[in-house]
Amino acid sequence: MRMLEDELFPSTPGKVKIERAHAINRQFHRCFASTSTMFLWALFLIALTASYLSFQSFVDTSSKYLSASWGGLHWEKQIRVSAEVRRAHGISVLVTGAAGFVGSHVSIALHKRGDGVVGLDNFNSYYDPSLKKARKSLLASHGIFVVEGDINDGRLLSKLFDVVPFTHVMHLAAQAGVRYAIENPASYVHSNIAGLVTLLEACKAADPQPAVVWASSSSVYGLNEKVPFSESDRTDRPASLYAATKKSGEEITHTYNHIYGLSITGLRFFTVYGPWGRPDMAYFSFTRNILQGKPITIYRGKDRVDLARDFTYIDDIVKGCLGSLDTAEKSTGSGGKKRRPAQYRIYNLGNTSPVTVPTLVSILERYLKVKAKRNVVEMPGNGDVPFTHANISLARAELGYKPTTNLETGLKKFVKWYLHYYGYRPRGSKNL
Ligand SMILES: NC(=O)c1ccc[n+]([C@@H]2O[C@H](COP(=O)([O-])OP(=O)(O)OC[C@H]3O[C@@H](n4cnc5c(N)ncnc54)[C@H](O)[C@@H]3O)[C@@H](O)[C@H]2O)c1
Repeated sequence: MRMLEDELFPSTPGKVKIERAHAINRQFHRCFASTSTMFLWALFLIALTASYLSFQSFVDTSSKYLSASWGGLHWEKQIRVSAEVRRAHGISVLVTGAAGFVGSHVSIALHKRGDGVVGLDNFNSYYDPSLKKARKSLLASHGIFVVEGDINDGRLLSKLFDVVPFTHVMHLAAQAGVRYAIENPASYVHSNIAGLVTLLEACKAADPQPAVVWASSSSVYGLNEKVPFSESDRTDRPASLYAATKKSGEEITHTYNHIYGLSITGLRFFTVYGPWGRPDMAYFSFTRNILQGKPITIYRGKDRVDLARDFTYIDDIVKGCLGSLDTAEKSTGSGGKKRRPAQYRIYNLGNTSPVTVPTLVSILERYLKVKAKRNVVEMPGNGDVPFTHANISLARAELGYKPTTNLETGLKKFVKWYLHYYGYRPRGSKNL
């Protein structure tokens, strides 16, 4: 200390020196005090930031919870009422993708015959969500409740199975469309792979386990050239990511059937069309463009061959879905283990009479009474296949599936719906 003072005050001894020493002491203490104040302030700021961050995360979590569109007593009641079976030996079905084209039709058909139906749909914007909302309103007018949620939400799914012991799941939710995979491949993985697994996990864990009927696709036949396409044909050459995810779905469902005893029926739909259809499909967008006087793009295959599709009317597909639900055996698992082998089936649901795309356009021109501005181009390599043609003998024998609507009749009904839905005054409507 002495040494320190000497160094600090080397000149005169006495009072001054002492006073100066006091002054420096005070300065030292002030300095020390201000350092500790700064330190305290720093601590205070750190604590404030930490509590702000944890408050933020609390707010985030709770707002997620609060903004979730499901849960609560009223919600559960709506589900129970919608799932009520109103006929002897009826079934209660969770329909995923219920606000979609096929899902809305299947839901109404099940409800009409007295089965219990609860829908689930995430109302994504792959195509105009207002059409999905309109389908939801249509279902609501029949007394069918559609839950707004994602099949990737495992908590929601297990809640649904807690509220209702569904006997069947009709799984139609998916990222559909072949070309969109170039733009947004992740959406196919999200819904068709991850979502499927989450759904199957919920089905596996449910007690009782439901029987699962789900939509695969004719696109799994990929680059095959042998026609008509049969269920036993190879399906290992998909031409699009969509097809690849549907093929994966067939393998994934097989695994859940094998390990957990889930009863599985996969349906390979062939180009489904009709009222309340999907705006991304050719017959729909052609209709829109023809009516608006815009050109339509018609793809042509190798060597100028016209593309052809086995167009299948929605009512026939619905009958195939109901036939599958009615013939599905019970799942055989419980507590995550199968007790004995369970049913695993795959069926083509098509129309067995392919029609070329130019013929489809001619039929539309006739019903719309407008000439199309055709723009014929080579088919780009974006996932489309040149033709589809279903062999439906297996579905006929085992599901009693028998399509009855040809493209002429089906398109007439579609055009009638389209004009009404989009507010066109039909020209010469007596012809429709
Ligand atoms: N329409 C056809 O020609 C056709 C042909 C072959 C296969 N399929 C298959 O049939 C099923 C139904 O097709 P569609 O024509 O009715 O299609 P769609 O797009 O009209 O219906 C699917 C519905 O599923 C919903 N959905 C998508 N991802 C979801 C998710 N992660 N969680 C919850 N909901 C989700 C969508 O919002 C949509 O309403 C699909 O699996 C499709 O791949 C359809």
